[in-house]
Amino acid sequence: MSQLNLAVEIGGLKLRNPVMNAAGVLGLSANLLKRVYEAGAGCVVTKSLGLHPRRGHPNPTLVAVEGGILNSMGLPNPGASYFANEVKRLKGMDIPVIASIFGSSPEEFIEVARILAESGADALELNYSCPTVGRERCLLDADPENIERVTSAVKDAVDLPIFVKLSPNVGDIVECAWASERGGADAITAVNTLKGLAIDAELRRPILSNIMGGLSGPALKPVALRCIWEITEEVEIPVIGCGGISTWRDAVEFLLCGANAIQIGTAIMYRGLEVFWEILEGVKGYLEVNGFTDVNEIVGLAHET
Ligand SMILES: Cc1cc2nc3c(=O)[nH]c(=O)nc-3n(C[C@H](O)[C@H](O)[C@H](O)COP(=O)(O)O)c2cc1C
Repeated sequence: MSQLNLAVEIGGLKLRNPVMNAAGVLGLSANLLKRVYEAGAGCVVTKSLGLHPRRGHPNPTLVAVEGGILNSMGLPNPGASYFANEVKRLKGMDIPVIASIFGSSPEEFIEVARILAESGADALELNYSCPTVGRERCLLDADPENIERVTSAVKDAVDLPIFVKLSPNVGDIVECAWASERGGADAITAVNTLKGLAIDAELRRPILSNIMGGLSGPALKPVALRCIWEITEEVEIPVIGCGGISTWRDAVEFLLCGANAIQIGTAIMYRGLEVFWEILEGVKGYLEVNGFTDVNEIVGLAHET
């Protein structure tokens, strides 16, 4: 059997392989994140953390829809200072950690970023893109000016790779990608959930307490691939692909489309942690059968037509 290289480097962060969990799915404790790493992930991503503890929205916050789920969790989290201890525990086990963070102002983003940087996080993922939280918090998604301003403020404040997670809920995602790059982002994560709604015919009202939710799962995949294609045609920094990846074939498609790494969210809920092992084995098999020796060799090949 030939020697395969799965290791990647994303904006200065070296990982044993390009597969990670998506923020918010299994990211609320060191114990669960340790299990994600043991299941094979190249690194782990925390739930999005804000400055203060947050309950999130009342139930129902999740509903199964065609091709995926709608969630309106509303960023429940125990706050950055509490979670800093969980990050320390993960670092004590030598597990690479990307801390996902949000804030309602550049100052708040900076404060959260500093807390997580001090706790030992290896990189920060700035979540500007949660569609289930009101405009008062973190919803900077449609505004490239804010993206650039906050990204550069965080970049100046901490000495860590900065990843910007973008929303598909915008007219032109390339504008947001350019703004991230101008702000000094080291990579882009694309994408967060797509804003959606579900109605209960019997009750004659929206199912989610928050009315709107974010669509994730297989139905999101073509949208995510389109976003990654558009972004990678225009920006130089690496892209972490996310949205609807459930199988190794999906993962390969994202890499071919231009993603340097991938995140898995909803599929963990349906398929359990085995999904990491299955995807890694499948990607390895694909590389071998097609005569590649390094996963980086297939990144972006679909653009070379
Ligand atoms: C229950 C749930 C909670 C989520 N929480 C977060 C979060 O805290 N921060 C974030 O950036 N994205 C969050 N997301 C979005 C995911 O990280 C991911 O971008 C999205 O689900 C698309 O990937 P998937 O189709 O593989 O799930 C959440 C998604 C789900 C389903």
